Amino acid sequence: MLKDNTKVPLDKFIEKSLFDKSKGYYMVKNPIGHKGDFITSPNVSVMFSEMIAIWLISFWKKIGSPKKINIVELGGGNGEMMFQIIKTIKKFEKFEQSAKFIILDKSPFLKNIQKIKMKNMNIVWTENIKKISKHPTIFLANEFFDVFPIKQFTKKKNLWFEKHIIYKDKTFKFCEKKIMKQNVEKLLGEKIAKNQKFLEFSKSGLQMLDAVSKKIKNQNGGLLIIDYGYKEKKMFDSIQSIKNHKKTNFLENPYNCDITHLINFHLFRKKLKKNKLDFIKLTSQREFLIKMGIKERAEIISKNLPFSSKVDVYLRVKRLIDNNQMGSLFKVLLATKKINNFSLGF
Ligand SMILES: C[S@@+](CC[C@H](N)C(=O)[O-])C[C@H]1O[C@@H](n2cnc3c(N)ncnc32)[C@H](O)[C@@H]1O
Repeated sequence: MLKDNTKVPLDKFIEKSLFDKSKGYYMVKNPIGHKGDFITSPNVSVMFSEMIAIWLISFWKKIGSPKKINIVELGGGNGEMMFQIIKTIKKFEKFEQSAKFIILDKSPFLKNIQKIKMKNMNIVWTENIKKISKHPTIFLANEFFDVFPIKQFTKKKNLWFEKHIIYKDKTFKFCEKKIMKQNVEKLLGEKIAKNQKFLEFSKSGLQMLDAVSKKIKNQNGGLLIIDYGYKEKKMFDSIQSIKNHKKTNFLENPYNCDITHLINFHLFRKKLKKNKLDFIKLTSQREFLIKMGIKERAEIISKNLPFSSKVDVYLRVKRLIDNNQMGSLFKVLLATKKINNFSLGF
């Protein structure tokens, strides 16, 4: 991956580990599921995607039921969320006729899985947001932005240093390289606050946020992000790596584990406002799913089930909404234009 004694910035190292064309973690395997390394909400319970489907239909109605609307999933994974959304909306004929379903995914391996799973469904894959037709567009991003490679910077005695990785004595190690404050600010796209001593953000993630915002600003629609993260302004080192459902050290096994970070929703909110998406709502996954009616849905589904299946349904809901599981670390953010004034689920 690296020659002896060469240093690369943290984000370059992560990019290569996850997205290298021939060896990258997301490019050659399916990491999602019990047999994989981690589970995402749509794979915990079908009810998660059903709640998103109902939310989509309500949003579409709120913006005047446009005859054409793009529903874009950013990062489709194993295709489970899109699959269940399309199944659910079949009962809502008018919406089904208006919606065009699109997936944007960087991994040819996962795209192939999505294509096989949804071979009888009407879906389009795209490489670029700019190529999406000029109609109102709703973007869905579940555990998408946390995968974008991050940069980290630390301030010491008034000087800024960027985290790098060096290959030395046959091992990867962290190291630092001095960087001018102005260059950090250029990457971040704004001035650094005086009391800020640590920064963590994804340059490519923020560029993606800009592209999505531009599309919504020009053609209307919204962005629904569901991801783990925090609301506070103060940043901290949130990088984490998972293998076989357990925490691991990515420096020891770079191509073979997931490397993610927590979303700083304060920064996202600021960027979205700057991009003229001035109606922003943020809540926990727990609040969102409860307000969308997941508990009532569980009751309906489990009504005629044997006891053991009933328990399974409720345990899955618990996993999604319990504060000690996915309920509070996972947040839901909606960004749209003020004129839409839509806050179902928040
Ligand atoms: C953690 S998975 C989540 C998958 C799915 N949303 C779910 O919840 O199960 C991240 C997905 O985003 C895709 N991805 C990551 N970075 C991307 C990028 N820059 N552009 C497009 N897709 C990307 C990956 O290939 C993968 O499908």
